[in-house]
Amino acid sequence: MKINKKAALHNLGCKVNAYETEAMQQILENAGYEIVPFTEYADVYVVNTCSVTNMADRKSRQMLHKAKKMNPDAIVVGAGCYVQTKEAEALLDDTVDIVIGNNKKHELLAMLEAYENDHGKCGNVIDINHEKQEYEEMFLERTAEHTRAFIKVQDGCNQFCSYCIIPYTRGRIRSRAIEDVVDEVRRLADNGYKEVVLTGIHLSSYGRDTGKETLLDVIEAVDSIDGIERIRLGSLEPRIVTDEFVSRISSMKKLCPHFHLSLQSGCDKTLKAMNRKYDTAEYLKGCEILRKYYDNPAITTDVIVGFPGETEEDFKITKAFVEKVHFYEMHIFKYSRRKGTVADKMKEQVADTVKSERSAVLLALEKVQSLEY
Ligand code: F3S
Repeated sequence: MKINKKAALHNLGCKVNAYETEAMQQILENAGYEIVPFTEYADVYVVNTCSVTNMADRKSRQMLHKAKKMNPDAIVVGAGCYVQTKEAEALLDDTVDIVIGNNKKHELLAMLEAYENDHGKCGNVIDINHEKQEYEEMFLERTAEHTRAFIKVQDGCNQFCSYCIIPYTRGRIRSRAIEDVVDEVRRLADNGYKEVVLTGIHLSSYGRDTGKETLLDVIEAVDSIDGIERIRLGSLEPRIVTDEFVSRISSMKKLCPHFHLSLQSGCDKTLKAMNRKYDTAEYLKGCEILRKYYDNPAITTDVIVGFPGETEEDFKITKAFVEKVHFYEMHIFKYSRRKGTVADKMKEQVADTVKSERSAVLLALEKVQSLEY
């Protein structure tokens, strides 16, 4: 169907958001829209926003404004996490014509039609933080990359880390049906994709809502699909790495021995203040199990420096722990305050200069460890 309309999309934030942006793009393509780069003139602009930091909020607003500037007559759609938390603000913003919160992105086309018929600002943002939701099924047949596809298998988070807004923007955990994951991966394999990366907002929680299948079952189902040669996993919670888990995945030859185990801090006091659900002993145990079953697995991680209350002594403990684990790669983040979180209200905020110093120390260590690996 040719409708002679152009649409442009822009993604902000994580891989799950990127998956949903690609799924929305395919909805528009299937409806006959021509997809053009975001920097070009279009009739519809979709910005899939992020709200993970105050900076992400600002960037989301900037991209929405940029879209309206490019074509003042265009329909500008603000979707995702920023508009989810800032619904009223976004609705009041003259640049945004349609507001679509999380779990409603599959309704994009219907909302565009409604807008064109009534020509009125419209929004569909549910109270995701309090109402129980079903998994929002969206589907990809192709992606921006030619051989690798990120597949979303899980949404939502029940962890409530004290620095993180995501549980409020995404709501509680919900798992995608295994048959739908398999269907999508099969179709991607038929289209020439060789590698899939299984992702989620909190991947390790897969199945905890349904009490049925687990993440292991998803990996095994994907492993059995012809045409797929490599499987990678998104970020994992350290406590999922048990003997049973690793002994089963290590028998699947398609699964790449690369594991991203989110650490955030190597100091138990700080982990507690972050409301992380593991301690360093459990984390180390997970790494040891991986190293028992795999010969030199690539273990990567995220570390936040300058979390409120992190003293010089606490930071030294983190550094020593990082040296002990020895990572292939580390992503170092300076703690960034996020309104609406518990950590934002903590009194002992760390000065930016101190955060920068600590970040530089870990970055230097990361270089050495990466080379050694
Ligand atoms: Fe951002 Fe939402 Fe992902 S806040 S990091 S787009 S879950």
